[in-house]
This record gives sequence, C-alpha cells and structure tokens, in this order.
Amino acid sequence: MKVLVVGSGAREHALTWKLRRSPSVKQVFCLPGNAGTRAIATNLPGNVNDLDGVLQAVKANGVDFVVVGPEEPLVNGLVDWLREAGVLAFGPDRQGAQLEGSKSFSKELMAEAGVPTAAFKVFEDAEQAEAYVRGAGRPLVVKADGLAAGKGVVVAKDADEAVQAIDLIMRKKAFGGTKVVIEETLRGQEVSYHVVSDGERYVALAPAQDHKRVGDGDQGPNTGGMGAYSPPPVVTAEVEQKILSKVIEPTLNTLKKRGTPFRGTLFVGLMIEDGEPSVLEFNTRFGDPETEVLMARWDGDILPLLLGSAKGDLSGVETKWAAPCALCVVMASGGYPGAYDKDKRIQGLERAGAEAVVFHAGTRMEGKDVVTSGGRVLAVTATGHSIDEAAARAYAVANQIHFEGAQYRRDIGHHARSAAPRSK
Ligand code: AMP
Ligand code: GLY
Repeated sequence: MKVLVVGSGAREHALTWKLRRSPSVKQVFCLPGNAGTRAIATNLPGNVNDLDGVLQAVKANGVDFVVVGPEEPLVNGLVDWLREAGVLAFGPDRQGAQLEGSKSFSKELMAEAGVPTAAFKVFEDAEQAEAYVRGAGRPLVVKADGLAAGKGVVVAKDADEAVQAIDLIMRKKAFGGTKVVIEETLRGQEVSYHVVSDGERYVALAPAQDHKRVGDGDQGPNTGGMGAYSPPPVVTAEVEQKILSKVIEPTLNTLKKRGTPFRGTLFVGLMIEDGEPSVLEFNTRFGDPETEVLMARWDGDILPLLLGSAKGDLSGVETKWAAPCALCVVMASGGYPGAYDKDKRIQGLERAGAEAVVFHAGTRMEGKDVVTSGGRVLAVTATGHSIDEAAARAYAVANQIHFEGAQYRRDIGHHARSAAPRSK
C-alpha cells in the first residue's frame, strides 16, 4: 500500500516514521513534509489547503490511502474532497471537524451531551460581551470562535484583560470571525486524551500531557506545545474511566444520534481537578507533540488503526504499548512564539543514536545542511521504563543538538518526575 501523510510538522514525521514500519506499507509520501520526512519518505511539493492539488498528487503517485495531520485542511473539507473522488482518507469530514473548527459548536454539543465543561455563553455583539465580563466580577476565559492556531484563547486575570480580548477578536477581527465564547476559568492539571473512532466503535490511546507555556514552570505565553510525556500520573485508572464514560462516550453517542457519526481522531483537552475531568476543548486530529510520544510508545503496526477508522471498521484493533513511558522535548527557534529566527544551521542531529528519535517540525534542506524554517523545530523523543528515564535520554540528546537561538524547556514532565529540573 502507498500512503500519503498530509502536513509538515513533527506529528506528521512521527506518523510517517511509524507507517514506514508497517509490513503492509510499501511507500510513504509526505505533502509537503520537512527535512526529517525527506530522509525516510518521499516529499511532494504542495500546500495542505489546496484540496485539488492534494488530490492530483494522490493520482499522480498511485496513493492508496491518505492520512491528514493538521486541522486546517480538515475544516476546509479535504477528507470530503478525497472521499468524493473515491480516495480512502483518515480524518473527519468537514462536518466532524466543526468540533474543533467552531468553539460554539463544540460547547453546544457538550451541553447537549451532558459533558462536564466550564459554563459558557456565546456572544455575537461586542457591547453585550463587554457588559457581561464587566458585570461578572470574576476572571473569565475569552475564546475566538474559529480556528486560531492556539492563539485565540485568553485566560483573562481581570475584566480589563477580557475586554481587550473581546476588542481584538470582535472589533479588530484578529482571527477572522466575530463570535466569542466566554467561559468560567477551570483549575487543575491539563491532560490530553485521544481516541480514534470509526463512527461506531472507538479505540482509546494512552493519556498524555502537553506543556503549553514557553517557559519552565509553565511561565510565559502559550505555544503550540513545548513538550509532552505519557502517561501522566494524574490520569489514574479511575480518572480514565470517567473520561471515557463522562466525556468520550456521550460525545460520540450524541454525534451518532444527530446523524453525524464521527470518524477520525477525537483529541480532548481536559482539566483534571480532584480526580474530576472537565473539557477545555475538542480537537479532531492528533495532538502535536502528543503524537510523538504516542507513536514512540505504540507497539507494532499503526496502519490497522488509521485504515480501520477510514473504512468504518475498527473491530479487532487493540492498543498495545511497547514502552511504559515516553517523553518529548521540543526545541524551538529563538523568539518563538513571537517573531522568530529562520535559516539557522542545525548541528548534532546524528547524536540521537539509539537513545532517542528526533522528529522534525520546522526544518528544510539547504544544500547538505538541515536548517530551521519554523517556530517549533525539533521534537526529541525517547522512551523508558519511567518518565525519569525517558527524560534523561531525551535531554541527553537535546543537549547535544545546536542551532543559533535554540530554546527548550528543561522541565518537561515536571508533574510526573521525582527529580529536580535538570540543568543544561
Ligand atoms: P483551548 O484552545 O480552548 O484549549 O485553550 C488553550 C489553552 O487555554 C488551554 O490549553 C488552557 O491552558 C487554557 N484554557 C482554555 N480554556 C480554559 C478554561 N476554561 N479555564 C482555564 N484555562 C483554559
Ligand atoms: N498539543 C496541543 C495541540 O496539538 O493542540
């Protein structure tokens, strides 16, 4: 089978790396991929949001199965477009992707399904939204309704900050739309939980924990994710059971009842406080960097999971975890998540050896050199018998990789690790 992975991040590199190990996969293509996927697969030029361009690449290369990584092409209907042309594709259709593409849609679904989440209100009028936050007398969270690459959420410390966010989203239209969701502030530990559904059944993956803030100790601005590990101790067997029975199952069942069964990855961002899960957000694709640790831990062939979902038949697909733990350290460009440097030569990539696998995100080839081309550059990922062991291996490799301005957190896994944050 020939498989095309759509996207260019470390998530797509990790999926490509795993698919390459499948005995049923003869060749993997990436569109557009990066310098890391180029070393193990065939990169195809193109833009993930050019739906017809992707279809033409599929036809020209005899691709049998397409795996879509990022949210934007899903929300734009890439999977519908491919399926209409008779191409097998993994991921939700445009309707399913609304769960991620519209916060008001997802909050209304949560309310209908009785899923625990922060109480919320949707506003389409800026003055009403401002009056609401001024009158509330407590800190609230302001969210742009549409896709905003992780930047459309402001956890406001006071009414002034909330009003600023409303102005940015509704009057300045910083994220395109003019709708906001305003919700109560949740407290606790954030975790990521993924299931893959075929519309009828689902397969649950291992819980993971991302680190969203740029700096150690969870300080500084939000990012796409600076590192992840799995499994997080806060998700005990009891908590996991609650996630399945109170969140995953009611959500999938409600979508089925509405006549829009969900096919693809449902990735739930949750807050866990005193053993009780509450939903922060739904995503309809694999998390990044969560995918890097999940693929590192996954035992054996990943193809049956992705193909089973796309074909609507996951029966017989089970999860087995080869490694008890995995941890990933994201190395980012200087300045990220603000304006960042590019075109910096990366040295030391060969140091990974058997200790870790270095998934690439924003990288490209320049002659024989690998150079930086994005905010998040590398996701150094290692497995171990414990989180400490996986962390020691990942940091041993990250510490030997260099590019000008490189920054990474030294405390990935801090909620789970007994050891003090390591020094460089
Ligand atoms: P979202 O894109 O909705 O996950 O929001 C991005 C980040 O904002 C989350 O990962 C949380 O860290 C934070 N966040 C979102 N909603 C809330 C909430 N209701 N309470 C506290 N923090 C939140
Ligand atoms: N790591 C968070 C996300 O992929 O949205």
